[in-house]
Amino acid sequence: MFGRNEKNTQTAVKVFVVDEIFSSKYEVCLLLLLLLLLLLLLLLLLLLLLYEDVVLPCSVPFSVTDQLFDWKKVSHSDIFHYQKGTYNNFRGPVFHFEDELESGNASVVIRKAQVTDSGNYTCNFPNHPPMEKAHIDLTVGAARWPVISLHKATNGILLKCRVLGAFPKPEVRWLDSSGNVLLPDEDPQVSYRDHHYDVVLKTTVTESGHYSCEATQREIHHRNQTETYVLTPGKVQITRIKLKVLGPNLAL
Ligand SMILES: *[C@@H]1O[C@H](CO)[C@@H](O)[C@H](O)[C@H]1NC(C)=O
Ligand SMILES: *[C@@H]1O[C@H](CO)[C@@H](O)[C@H](O)[C@H]1NC(C)=O
Ligand SMILES: *[C@@H]1O[C@H](CO)[C@@H](O)[C@H](O)[C@H]1NC(C)=O
Repeated sequence: MFGRNEKNTQTAVKVFVVDEIFSSKYEVCLLLLLLLLLLLLLLLLLLLLLYEDVVLPCSVPFSVTDQLFDWKKVSHSDIFHYQKGTYNNFRGPVFHFEDELESGNASVVIRKAQVTDSGNYTCNFPNHPPMEKAHIDLTVGAARWPVISLHKATNGILLKCRVLGAFPKPEVRWLDSSGNVLLPDEDPQVSYRDHHYDVVLKTTVTESGHYSCEATQREIHHRNQTETYVLTPGKVQITRIKLKVLGPNLAL
C-alpha cells in the first residue's frame, strides 16, 4: 500500500518534469523564430540602405487612368509606356502608381536605382499635343570615403588622398586642422570608368598636425571627410615622463 503510493507520486513528478521540458523547448523555438525574424529585418534594412528607389514626378490636371502616357530617357529609348490600364516597362523595374492615376499622377518609380540610371527623363502625353513635357534631370550618386596614404618626400611628407568609384565627380581638397585649404602639388588626377570617377589629390606638408581630405558632391548634397595625423621627421616629439615617488622617502 505504502509502496504503491510512492510510485504514484514519482509518476506525477515525472509528468511534471516532461511538461517543463516541453514548455522550455517551446520557448526555445519561439526565441529562435524571433531571432530569425530579427535577422530578416536587418537584411531588409541593409538592402534598403544599399538600394534606393527614386520617383520621377509627373502630374497633370486630369485623370490619366484612361489615357496614354510614356516615359523616355533622353538619347535612349522608351523606358515605360502606359495605355488604358496596361503597361510595359522596357528597361528594368519601373512602375507607375495605380491608385494615383485617377488624380492625374503619372509619376513612376525606378526600383533600386543605379548610377547608370542617371540622365534626363521626359514624361509624355502623345494624345495631348499642347501639353508641356515634364523634364527630369536625375542624378543617382555613389559616395565613397576618401582614403589617405602618407609617403616620404624630399621636402616633407606627401599626403595622397584617393576617392575611388564615386559619382557624380567629387570635388576633392586637403584641409589643415584650422580648416584652411592646402595648395595641392598638382591638378587632381581624374579618371572615369564604368560611370564612376576616381580622383587622386596630392599635397606636401612640412608641419606636424591633423590634416583631412574632403570629398564633396554638390549634385547629391554629399560631403565626406577622412582625417589623419602627420608627424614630420626631424621634429621628433619628446614626451617627458616624470616619475613621482609617493610616500615618505626611505631613510637609508
Ligand atoms: C504621385 O504619387 C507618388 C507616389 O505615391 C508620390 O510620391 C507623389 O508625391 C505624387 N505626386 C503628386 C503631385 O501628388
Ligand atoms: C540633362 O539636361 C541638362 C539640361 O538640359 C544638361 O545640362 C545635363 O547635362 C543633362 N544630363 C545628362 C546626364 O545628360
Ligand atoms: C561617407 O561615405 C560613406 C560611404 O558612402 C557613408 O557610409 C558615410 O555615411 C559618409 N559619411 C558622411 C558624413 O556623409
